[in-house]
Amino acid sequence: MATSWNATGECSVGGEKIFHQVRMFGSLPFRLADQTVAEGDWTCSRSGASPSLVYAKLDCEGLILGKRSVMSAQRFQGKVAVVTGGNSGIGLGVAKAYAREGAQVAITGRNQKTLEVAAKEIGDGTLAIQSDAGKVAEIEAAMKKINERLGRIDALFVNAGVAKLVRFEEVTEEFFDQTVDINMKGVFFTVQKAIPLMPNGSAIVLNASINAHLGLPGTTVYGATKAAVINMAKTLSADLLEKGIRVNAISPGPITSSLLARDGITEEKLQETTDWIQSKVPIKHFGTPEDIAAGVLYLTAPESAFVLGAELIIDGGMSTL
Ligand SMILES: NC(=O)c1ccc[n+]([C@@H]2O[C@H](COP(=O)([O-])OP(=O)(O)OC[C@H]3O[C@@H](n4cnc5c(N)ncnc54)[C@H](OP(=O)(O)O)[C@@H]3O)[C@@H](O)[C@H]2O)c1
Repeated sequence: MATSWNATGECSVGGEKIFHQVRMFGSLPFRLADQTVAEGDWTCSRSGASPSLVYAKLDCEGLILGKRSVMSAQRFQGKVAVVTGGNSGIGLGVAKAYAREGAQVAITGRNQKTLEVAAKEIGDGTLAIQSDAGKVAEIEAAMKKINERLGRIDALFVNAGVAKLVRFEEVTEEFFDQTVDINMKGVFFTVQKAIPLMPNGSAIVLNASINAHLGLPGTTVYGATKAAVINMAKTLSADLLEKGIRVNAISPGPITSSLLARDGITEEKLQETTDWIQSKVPIKHFGTPEDIAAGVLYLTAPESAFVLGAELIIDGGMSTL
């Protein structure tokens, strides 16, 4: 099985992308555990594929850099998966993982252009819906389209969110309301409007954040919305128990995405913020959307049938060590 690398540090085995560059926004070399690793220094000691597994083990001078396996079992064959904010970052990674495991996928987002590009990347038949997660009427309209085209939702990943860091003194009412509308009100009403389409045995994952647990400067509003999301996973679980619908939360640590690069941040500031965050992660690198996808798919698959109202933290140890 052929293994190849591209210039941005992605590894493919037999044409399937399985390992992504771990450093955010930059190009190689990247740092891991205080070592600098250039592209040519990577070797792949083992790679291969079976009907259910594609893997590679990456080594650098005896140090194992990573081993990434992609379960390509068809756990979601015949199922419908919906991902809000599925046109970028974590949401896009999760939508692709659902498609890889056989689901029919619908994504939402605000940006029509990236919705179209993402739908192509996810695969044939992907339903892409322009819908603002902060507006209840648009959430309702999106659910109507999903009902008309796909008829049901078996797995719902409520992911759309914004995370602009703003100093406490500089928070305006407009910024406060916009963040709460998208990250908290939007989450609640997405679940409420989706429920009529969700059968007994279906499952929901809410995307929270480790910022719900950390006291990082500039994150008062963001952190509060994410703490609310973790609480909603519990209270909604209780409300939806009798319908046989499970709700759980996932809390990512720093993950490669467009989140920090939005809203016209300068390259310099972006690099500074990225380096500062990376220095706080015990494992010394950012995670990838695929790290989160593994958790989301688990929490919406039958194998997690006994898990509800829980929070799964995936953060390289940033909030746990
Ligand atoms: N990356 C991290 O380190 C990290 C860590 C913890 C939690 N999270 C959470 O992960 C989620 C996804 O973020 P990301 O890191 O993947 O960042 P991202 O690449 O910026 O993606 C954000 C997604 O949310 C969508 N979105 C934002 N506002 C929306 C709105 N009003 N209506 C509809 N869609 C909207 C965006 O769509 P448009 O582009 O069309 O607006 C985009 O698809 C967020 O909830 C974030 O809080 C991320």
